[in-house]
Amino acid sequence: MTKPSHIAIIMDGNGRWAKARGLPRAAGHRAGVEALRRTVRAVGEQGVAWLTCYAFSSENWSRPQSEVSDLLGLLKIFIRRDLAELHQNGVRVRVIGDRKGLKSDIRTLLEEAEALTADNDAMILIIAFNYGSRDEIARAAAKIARMAANQEISASQITPETFAAFLDTAGVPDPDLIIRTGGDQRLSNFLLWQAAYAELVFAPCFWPDFTESDLVAAIEEFGGRDRRFGKVAADAVS
Ligand code: FPP
Repeated sequence: MTKPSHIAIIMDGNGRWAKARGLPRAAGHRAGVEALRRTVRAVGEQGVAWLTCYAFSSENWSRPQSEVSDLLGLLKIFIRRDLAELHQNGVRVRVIGDRKGLKSDIRTLLEEAEALTADNDAMILIIAFNYGSRDEIARAAAKIARMAANQEISASQITPETFAAFLDTAGVPDPDLIIRTGGDQRLSNFLLWQAAYAELVFAPCFWPDFTESDLVAAIEEFGGRDRRFGKVAADAVS
């Protein structure tokens, strides 16, 4: 069975998980971090080299101030508490999203995590934080426009491959499989460029309930998909 080499996850449903238990939304996000920890381990055990997780979108700033602080706090706790274990296990941490929009303490923390783990290669964990695809694509276009104005790049040099090198995911293989929990079936501004040929799997459970067996089921579903990348299947050619 073909396995994905890059899985990306939209971790949705923390709020509804908490509500169903009569708990505050913050409790759902805390349980979401636990699910993230379990999932990083499980993805590693499945031999999948790349994992990207959508932790905070550029649109999440419009949530109530207290929820935004909870999410920023959880990111700090996650990095502080889990970094040593991730590093020990050979996990490289990379962060995508707009760094400029983050306060300097968080920016420093993210940079330290990336620097500490830069030489690890057992698995790469990409955290999408203050990330939105349209913002990423617009920032890439702005960089190219600035270079063009300085005559450092010309229009004829811009191809899908060269453009991709200006995205936050430069050098990262496209996700093969995108999993979204929580029941909604959309991409919500996540990896729009990179998802061109990704297989999508929607898990009905809320993110805090996502288990290793849900992961294995998604990988198995992926294994049964016919990926043609815009071509026709070999046996369809007459
Ligand atoms: C969606 O649930 C989830 C998020 C907005 C954030 C995902 C965050 C985590 C899993 C925990 C934080 C992890 C780090 C590393 C910061 P939702 O609140 O939209 O749930 P709902 O759709 O049920 O309201």
